[in-house]
Amino acid sequence: GDIFTYDPGFTSTAACESNITFIDGEEGVLLHRGYPIQQLAQQSHFLEVCYLLLYGELPSAEQLEDFENRVTNHTMIHEQMKNFFSGFRRDAHPMAIMTGVVGAMSAFYHDSTDIHDPWQREVASIRLIAKMPTIAAMAFKYSMGQPFVYPLNELDYASNFLRMCFSVPAEEYHVDPILARAMDRIFTLHADHEQNASTSTVRLASSSGANPFACIAAGIACLWGPAHGGANQACLEMLREIGTVDRIPEFIARAKDKNDPFRLMGFGHRVYKNHDPRATVMKESADEVLELMGIENNPTLQVAKELEKQALEDPYFTEKKLFPNVDFYSGIILDAMGFPTSMFTPIFALSRTVGWVAQWKEMLTDDHMKIGRPRQLYTGAGARDYIEVENR
Ligand code: CMC
Repeated sequence: GDIFTYDPGFTSTAACESNITFIDGEEGVLLHRGYPIQQLAQQSHFLEVCYLLLYGELPSAEQLEDFENRVTNHTMIHEQMKNFFSGFRRDAHPMAIMTGVVGAMSAFYHDSTDIHDPWQREVASIRLIAKMPTIAAMAFKYSMGQPFVYPLNELDYASNFLRMCFSVPAEEYHVDPILARAMDRIFTLHADHEQNASTSTVRLASSSGANPFACIAAGIACLWGPAHGGANQACLEMLREIGTVDRIPEFIARAKDKNDPFRLMGFGHRVYKNHDPRATVMKESADEVLELMGIENNPTLQVAKELEKQALEDPYFTEKKLFPNVDFYSGIILDAMGFPTSMFTPIFALSRTVGWVAQWKEMLTDDHMKIGRPRQLYTGAGARDYIEVENR
């Protein structure tokens, strides 16, 4: 029969060529279009990084303004889409709502579903990036039983998202620039990460010619899992469960125990075997934000820092090259901002949308594009004859 390479989890298979993001896992390097993530997180801002990921170069001032205007122009969602939210239970996980609502965009934006038309692809990209914060914020408002807040286009991307999440009609709301900056940095640090599980899902879905909204909905579904984007929620819940520094050794022992499925959430990475450069920036950001908010004695941050310290002194973690990843500190910042843990993964999803979209666009113009169709090593029964039910 045919001979295949057996590579479960694709640990050694390159599925595509890409010129968007470079990762060197041994060295802890992450570059977008050649630019180091640290510089982008500290000196650039999310929409500029979106432009870079989508079009390959940093924009001129004029290009940036034009891009920001285009995104801003698309922040509202079709009014009828509000009905989708009210169809869900109030206690639905916002990721469940987002998967449904983003998939439903295919039914509202027919004029941007033709993947062969470059202009429609462009409009779909902008729509997805522009509407994702609105959809995530609406899922949040719905869970709290508060009225939806429409986008305010005079605000920047992060400030607008914070306002849609936290303002209520009864009170005046001013976006705190420190929080907006921290929010923007979280978006930037999650913007793209080459062929991770959700991005590969988007590419695989797209390889069949599915429309962009369906493909991104598939990515959101994949991201939800606790081994991937769901780790930020799971990590903060774990830190809270640990609660006090004296209980850390117990949890480290559990993480090392082969008979216990428990893992240290926010620890380990398929590609990074030295450090996750995003985690370093995130940790600094957590310190900065909490200090500026006057809550540097945050007990969760203390548990996180001590847990990191103890794990990094433990040969189990060093030998397996397990280090804190991007999700280890992000939850602490989001918690301090007032987000419930259920909103952490939706925030990851809205940040990663640009990465999914950039990779989707790249793929559609790639001459090597074919339907993704992995093979298998069959381990089942050999050929045999059917037996009538009465004879079994
Ligand atoms: N705690 C304890 N042990 C761990 C952990 C952990 N967090 N992560 C990996 N290990 C062990 C694992 O048990 C295995 O041990 P052994 O070789 O003795 O069987 C070894 O390390 C290798 O693990 P693996 O599962 O084969 O590695 P992987 O590359 O398939 O998985 C991972 C990578 C990120 C899924 C995994 O490290 C993990 O589950 N981490 C916790 C969840 C998490 O934080 N995910 C977020 C990843 S970064 C953001 C994102 O991608 O969304």
